[in-house]
Amino acid sequence: MTAARPACRIEELRRFSRRPALTPAPPGAVSLAMGEPDCPTPAPVIEAAVAALRAGDTHYADQKGLPELRTRLASLLPAHPGRTWSADDVVVTHGATGALAAVVLAMVGPGDRVVIPEPAYSLYADLVVLAGGTVDFVPLGRDLHWDLDALAAALPGASMMIFSNPSNPTGIVHGEPELKALGELLNGSGTLVVSDEAYHRLVYPGHEWTSALAVESLRDRAVYVQTFSKTYAMTGWRVGYLTGPREVVDAAAQVHRTLNGSVNTAVQRAALAALDLPDSVVDAMADTYRRRRELVIAALSDAPGLHLVPPEGAFYGFLRYDKDRPSEEVARELAERKVLVRAGAEYGPSGEGHIRISFAASEDDLRTGLARVVAHLDVTRS
Ligand SMILES: Cc1ncc(COP(=O)(O)O)c(C=O)c1O
Repeated sequence: MTAARPACRIEELRRFSRRPALTPAPPGAVSLAMGEPDCPTPAPVIEAAVAALRAGDTHYADQKGLPELRTRLASLLPAHPGRTWSADDVVVTHGATGALAAVVLAMVGPGDRVVIPEPAYSLYADLVVLAGGTVDFVPLGRDLHWDLDALAAALPGASMMIFSNPSNPTGIVHGEPELKALGELLNGSGTLVVSDEAYHRLVYPGHEWTSALAVESLRDRAVYVQTFSKTYAMTGWRVGYLTGPREVVDAAAQVHRTLNGSVNTAVQRAALAALDLPDSVVDAMADTYRRRRELVIAALSDAPGLHLVPPEGAFYGFLRYDKDRPSEEVARELAERKVLVRAGAEYGPSGEGHIRISFAASEDDLRTGLARVVAHLDVTRS
């Protein structure tokens, strides 16, 4: 038998990564663990893919993405006199995951340091490790927004900073003033800013969201990552895209085509159909999450031993608990009590003492699951 040994980067990734392999909820358990819309993909999107397949659209597509899709996506990006967008600025990718992997592998190498404000979506740090770079975790402030002083200390010399906005796992929205302040900190540096805006259509009343591409002080360094997964309930279709400075786009396109070739042709036709949906379709999904968010806040705001910063966007609540127990242990105990959540430690060292719940679950599952969480983490019970 051959002693097959994975490459050292894989061994390093296995040592570093806290991302669990995801499995379906066992019978009787409710899952508040998945970052996955529970509503179906809108019918016109499915019909567009079926029609494309029937029409023989079954061959390789342009490796950067169908020109008509890229043209359409470019037309939706925030333009201003100093910056206009064309199809050449866009690469269609295998979801945001493919876009993030392409950008990190294209722009980060051994010796490069990448600042990640944490808790953060755990894929970012894993990709940096895979690329051979160094992860520089910078803890968020207590309100889960950026600690600008800590970032000012960490950013000099960093090759990249990565964040999501709205944020998975914290549910925080980094508004225009926060983005502008970041741009000012970076003035004169060569640091790229990767802004993963997967949840841009999920921003709750009272909170203002702005794309990093629309912020002048970030304009020349922002790499924008987007996906159809969350906005259009298309997680299984695997389609996303990226844009940013042309050299970054070209390098990322090269990585993406080396790893993946082109994205499925019929899926790109479906993506075009998603862009044609009336706003009301996406607004209806956003309304559903808004109601569930209210349910989460109501269920948790007075729960003894639990603390929630009310989610400003996305569909996550990042819950701090008072019990002195590692979050991975708490997540295991909760799974035994038939509610699946994610351990805060997955998202960085400051995530310890937290669990992440997703409210991309039915109201019934939310009520049942939250009651189980509250009962287990109540410090007034022994
Ligand atoms: C912030 C963020 N970015 C990217 C992704 C991955 O998206 P995709 O399905 O497009 O690969 C997720 C999925 O949960 C996410 O939460």
